[in-house]
Amino acid sequence: MKKKITLIGAGQIGGTLAHLIALKNLADVVLFDVASGLAKGKALDIAQSSPVNNFEVSLSGTDNYEDTKDSDVIIITAGVPRKPGMTRDDLLEINLKIIKQVADGIKNTSPNAFVICITNPLDVIVMALQKYSGLPKNKVVGMAGILDSSRFIYFLSEELKIPVNKIKSFVLGGHGDSMVPMLDSTFIDGKEIKKLVSENKISIEKLDKIVERTKKGGAEIVKFLEKGSAFYAPAASGVEMAESYLNDLKKQLPCAAYLNGEYGFKDIYAGVPVVIGSKGVEKVVEIKLSDLEKKNFNDSVKSVTELFNAAKKIDPNL
Ligand code: NAI
Ligand code: 2OP
Repeated sequence: MKKKITLIGAGQIGGTLAHLIALKNLADVVLFDVASGLAKGKALDIAQSSPVNNFEVSLSGTDNYEDTKDSDVIIITAGVPRKPGMTRDDLLEINLKIIKQVADGIKNTSPNAFVICITNPLDVIVMALQKYSGLPKNKVVGMAGILDSSRFIYFLSEELKIPVNKIKSFVLGGHGDSMVPMLDSTFIDGKEIKKLVSENKISIEKLDKIVERTKKGGAEIVKFLEKGSAFYAPAASGVEMAESYLNDLKKQLPCAAYLNGEYGFKDIYAGVPVVIGSKGVEKVVEIKLSDLEKKNFNDSVKSVTELFNAAKKIDPNL
């Protein structure tokens, strides 16, 4: 039997997710949105491309949670995206209300699903989603680290004129301005990036600029688009997580995961490398951090904690 992926939110990311999932023949897709016409229209439009693109999955749109019943994977983008000048954190109050409705909608209809949250402010919203839904912590995970890492790798590749697939790196911490691109774990064609600096292949100043550009990667796109935020790269990143779960690929991916003592933190979600397989988040991978990376990671998790405390003021039930 085909697997079933429900996409809660049929906006820019939701629609792109549906298209990518169909092109990969990954699973049947249910697009759910309070704007049911948007969900139905996008599902029908993508389904009509199946003779051209030769995929066999079914697509449907709905605003009824019953239609999402027994999903294997749920990817949540329901919410409001950033407008120019807004930070991810400005979205907190409105998206908290929306995520509560979503949690109520999915907890009884798909209690066994692997749930990937994309809605911002990411780390706090995924933590609220887990608490509101009561779903297992290893089955509720946030997408941000893959996107941030992908941006970092792309910028490095452009600067160094080296193909992206020869660059290994990742970004940890919260999905905000305090995120931590991991320079000590950055390898270019197998070589430490620091070695390239000592060989004058890239200057420290250039590297710092790339780190800053990565941290503000979302805002750069918001400024161009004017109406809304990035959606192609975020959707591709969400699909990679869904694929690793459905096909038990056990990929190591940077994701917002629940920490229970790992990296010295308890009862908080933050971006860390995890292994995703058929059991969900199967492992939080603890890599060795340099002193500076550790300090930056701690600061980043601290800002997530502060924002979660702000969320608790908005909803004391959290
Ligand atoms: P969008 O505005 O195009 O789509 C959001 C959809 O959610 C809309 O169609 C809206 O009708 C729907 N919606 C609103 N309330 C709902 C509810 N209660 N139930 C179901 N659907 C509901 O936004 P877009 O561009 O798709 O972004 C979605 C979210 O993803 C935003 O919060 C954005 O900030 C976030 N984002 C996160 C990233 C990450 O790395 N984690 C990257 C990019 C965006
Ligand atoms: C992004 O990083 C806005 O969080 C969104 O593109």
